[in-house]
Amino acid sequence: MLKKVGPFEFVRSLRRILAGKPQIPPSLQDNQLLQVILRRRSVRRFAARDIPEDVWQAILEAGRLAPSTVNLQTWSFATFTARSWQATFGSPLPFKGNRAVLVMGDIHRQQALAAQLPDSPLIFYTLAVINASLAAMAMNLAAEALGVSSVMLSETGRSGLLDIGYLKQKLELPDGVFPLMTIVFGYANGPYPPMPPKLPLDQVCFEGKYREPDPAVMEDWLSQMIAGYKAMRPLSSFEAQLRLYQSKIGQAEADLRSMIYFKKSR
Ligand SMILES: Cc1cc2nc3c(=O)[nH]c(=O)nc-3n(C[C@H](O)[C@H](O)[C@H](O)COP(=O)(O)O)c2cc1C
Repeated sequence: MLKKVGPFEFVRSLRRILAGKPQIPPSLQDNQLLQVILRRRSVRRFAARDIPEDVWQAILEAGRLAPSTVNLQTWSFATFTARSWQATFGSPLPFKGNRAVLVMGDIHRQQALAAQLPDSPLIFYTLAVINASLAAMAMNLAAEALGVSSVMLSETGRSGLLDIGYLKQKLELPDGVFPLMTIVFGYANGPYPPMPPKLPLDQVCFEGKYREPDPAVMEDWLSQMIAGYKAMRPLSSFEAQLRLYQSKIGQAEADLRSMIYFKKSR
């Protein structure tokens, strides 16, 4: 069971969240690209405003030109308008977004090359996840630079976790093409949310040998996560989200396993 956060700790944790700010050295504060990267937030409230076509194409271009292992470009992007999302999935685009990209790892397209190598589904899967995620982040940052906000989702709003089997059937995905995330794009409706609790640099960054996490820092972070989750979604809780994952993860794991073992054309 997760720890309980009492009222005093709840308020203290929210205060700590609100005090969290990107650390930018004063000498770099005017750097516009840095500002874009650091001000990005996951946005979950979008305005009823269309993304112009040139802006949308520039966002996709950022994905197309992303770096990848041996330039293999092991990704596919399925694009949606709010209308085509509704027609495909029978539900509105989450958070009233304007456009979406479903980002997939794709090792199907490079089957012929992969067939030259020993069977290594885990390696190809990992490379595809790395590359497609970099493309996702490139699209996310390009959007941000153009004033368009976004949120990455590990689902389509249907099952709560990856929706792999469902999407395979719905989008007729061949083996070796596996959904990773949906990025919902739109213009933010209102100010950006506060920065969720980020671990301090000395918890995630080390020189030399690995540094074990500091239990007090991790406990503090968890309190902030629980309090922040409750503040953002008063009708739910961080614990309820974990329970949802507990119930969905077995099916998602089985669906994914069946998809990453693609048949070689050798
Ligand atoms: C791969 C991935 C999947 C995510 N899935 C969801 C999701 O299903 N629902 C959601 O509300 N946010 C989702 N998020 C957004 C994270 O909750 C968010 O990135 C995190 O809380 C940090 O906040 P920030 O993006 O504002 O820094 C996802 C983020 C990533 C990178």
